[in-house]
Amino acid sequence: MTRRRRRFLGAGLVATMLVGGAFALTQYESYTSLYDAAYVGSAACGECHTQVYDQWRNSPHALMVREASRSTVVGDFGDHAWTLPASARRSAADAAPVARMRFDGDVPVMSLLDPSTGAMDDFTIDLVVGFQYRQTYLHREPGGVYRRLPLQWSVARQAFVPYWNFQEGSTPSAADLRAQMFTHNSAWNLFCARCHVTHLDIASKDEHHLVADTSWVEPGIGCEACHGPGSQHVNYFAHNYVNRVAAFVNNKARGEPVAYIASGPKLERGQDLSVCSRCHGPDIMLASTEAYRQYEPGYSREGRINDLSPHFKEYPLQPGRTDPTVECWADGRPKGIGMLFRSFIESACHDGGEARCHDCHDPHMNKLPQKPGLLEASAASNAYCLACHDAYRGAAAIAAHTHHASGTAGSFCYDCHMPREILNLVSGTRRFTRTHMMSSIPDPRSSIRYGVEAAPNACNECHADRSPAWALARMRDWWGDGDVDGSD
Ligand code: HEC
Ligand code: HEC
Ligand code: HEC
Ligand code: HEC
Ligand code: HEC
Ligand code: HEC
Ligand code: HEC
Ligand code: HEC
Repeated sequence: MTRRRRRFLGAGLVATMLVGGAFALTQYESYTSLYDAAYVGSAACGECHTQVYDQWRNSPHALMVREASRSTVVGDFGDHAWTLPASARRSAADAAPVARMRFDGDVPVMSLLDPSTGAMDDFTIDLVVGFQYRQTYLHREPGGVYRRLPLQWSVARQAFVPYWNFQEGSTPSAADLRAQMFTHNSAWNLFCARCHVTHLDIASKDEHHLVADTSWVEPGIGCEACHGPGSQHVNYFAHNYVNRVAAFVNNKARGEPVAYIASGPKLERGQDLSVCSRCHGPDIMLASTEAYRQYEPGYSREGRINDLSPHFKEYPLQPGRTDPTVECWADGRPKGIGMLFRSFIESACHDGGEARCHDCHDPHMNKLPQKPGLLEASAASNAYCLACHDAYRGAAAIAAHTHHASGTAGSFCYDCHMPREILNLVSGTRRFTRTHMMSSIPDPRSSIRYGVEAAPNACNECHADRSPAWALARMRDWWGDGDVDGSD
């Protein structure tokens, strides 16, 4: 909408209201829910929400899945020959390429050696998944399965890697790479896509994951993946400017929910967190697969499951669990990237408080912090914690509590209470991000019992040249036996 038109419509509404409330009332439609809405796609939302749309368009959520082309492929497809890593070669023949990557016009192609025939088979690439840390390549088969090809591009290494072998710690071979194209989890649209696209619909499939009839509203995590299906919302506002102005006023002045659309801050916390948990908390699925698969954001109605919070902790944390994404440290704290959401839910700040994901993350530009600067350990990030824990406000109180001078490394709340203990296995490289168990207390005793590698603690993350016994002794000096040992 242009500025001029907006002003004109504003004037029209004022005139309408002056002429008589009765006329305005007939223009204003009441509403009750967003039941039965259909998905319309993010571009339709962008018609009105131009600023949010522009922010979202360049975010990792929006760009997660794209059509394969010269501009979306980040891997090296310039006539690249890939051989097995030296450590995986069993004979001289293994030094020959087992894969080749090239562009055929604008279409990227991966050829893989079939060891049973010795032929190199071409797989054209239809979709690419990811771009930040690694990129996965998908080939659409005649049966409708989007097959994940066994070699992924690692951005950190600037190389193709046999990702699953890296993740599982197994040795790649030409035969094994080929076999990876027949496993259930290589059928991307049946196994992975529900977290990578907006509203995956699986109309039919066969038990071997060779045939699949699937569709989605759009690739990537669109507006409606978080706000629910939006057709009613769009229709309600598309031609009715009274509805628009009334909603704007009711929303801004009275914080009323806007018609036919779910918005996190206005939902109960469990419903709000469900939105992100569905993709960032895959361990929920381990106990409640159906609830998890049928989930859509939105208000409840018989048959529509929109609150996953009763299931958040159903699946017990298992000390030492080694599944790559839902892995736990030896002492039972969440470790794998799939446990990021779980780490948040296990926090006392969640149990007793109102903490939500969008307190710290801008949901539209999801690589940027929600104001002000919460993703770095800083005075601004302290402010978030201090809003609830105000006993530690002020430089003196911070120094007294942390025993590190206020404003220096070791004094920020994140330093000790959100250490980098969540492992994102990125193409075989180990990349740690912060645990979201923000009430966790550094526990060098676990590190003494299991070793720092199997159970790290925040103190030795920075003081890597010291032992956990040193950290425990300093903690006893500073915080006393009772408090430090009390959390056992
Ligand atoms: C025809 C215009 C129009 C379209 C298209 C549109 N919206 Fe809205 N939307 C509005 C108006 C008007 C409001 C209320 C005024 C405001 O908050 O700015 C609003 C408010 C919202 C809110 C705030 C809700 C709240 O309770 O605070 C969200 C979220 C939202 N829209 C999401 C969407 C999504 C998702 C789509 C696409 C499915 C979409 N909108 C399409 C006009 C539109
Ligand atoms: C439970 C939801 C879920 C499932 C199922 C899932 N993923 Fe993901 N995937 C995610 C999330 C969330 C991230 C982002 C992790 C992060 O960086 O915090 C991600 C990240 C990725 C990335 C890296 C993106 C980038 O830009 O670097 C790739 C590639 C990927 N997934 C591929 C797959 C494949 C292949 C499968 C199926 C075998 C799969 N995923 C299954 C949720 C899921
Ligand atoms: C990853 C989930 C997610 C996606 C994707 C997403 N939103 Fe939001 N959106 C949220 C959350 C959470 C909030 C509340 C943020 C807050 O108040 O801190 C929000 C707030 C809003 C608001 C009200 C506040 C504002 O910034 O104006 C509008 C309007 C909105 N979203 C529209 C959209 C549109 C349009 C798209 C797609 C272009 C979109 N959203 C994509 C999660 C999402
Ligand atoms: C439909 C699945 C889905 C939903 C819903 C979703 N995400 Fe994501 N999120 C992803 C995937 C997949 C990625 C990986 C994108 C990439 O790396 O290319 C991601 C990436 C992110 C990242 C950046 C991670 C990184 O390593 O760069 C943040 C932060 C994030 N999401 C937060 C949220 C929050 C907060 C919500 C809820 C408001 C949410 N997400 C909802 C799937 C989802
Ligand atoms: C107290 C603030 C805070 C809250 C609340 C919060 N996060 Fe984070 N989040 C962070 C910080 C800090 C990082 C690390 C950023 C970095 O190191 O670049 C992070 C990182 C992430 C990442 C990126 C992981 C990666 O691979 O780098 C994802 C995904 C994410 N958060 C999702 C969520 C979700 C989902 C929620 C709600 C359950 C949530 N966050 C709540 C502060 C927060
Ligand atoms: C929305 C409010 C809220 C926010 C924001 C918040 N917390 Fe909490 N936090 C709580 C509540 C409630 C408890 C439980 C208090 C109790 O049980 O006495 C708690 C408990 C704790 C504990 C004690 C755990 C224990 O075992 O005694 C620590 C440590 C903590 N929070 C650190 C943080 C840090 C660090 C941040 C910022 C990253 C933060 N909190 C942000 C509400 C919050
Ligand atoms: C150098 C590490 C360190 C830093 C930095 C740190 N804390 Fe702590 N915190 C601890 C330790 C150790 C404990 C447990 C001993 C205790 O209870 O005093 C603790 C306990 C707590 C508790 C629970 C205490 C209680 O009385 O229930 C809260 C709340 C807390 N911290 C909040 C914060 C906040 C807010 C910040 C940032 C201003 C912060 N901490 C910074 C190490 C740290
Ligand atoms: C984010 C990094 C960080 C974390 C986490 C951290 N420290 Fe420190 N710590 C530092 C830095 C940097 C110094 C140096 C300050 C100086 O020399 O003025 C320091 C200084 C110290 C000192 C005094 C100098 C020395 O080496 O004897 C002790 C003792 C200490 N830290 C103990 C701890 C303990 C115990 C914990 C965990 C409860 C902890 N630190 C957590 C960064 C950290």
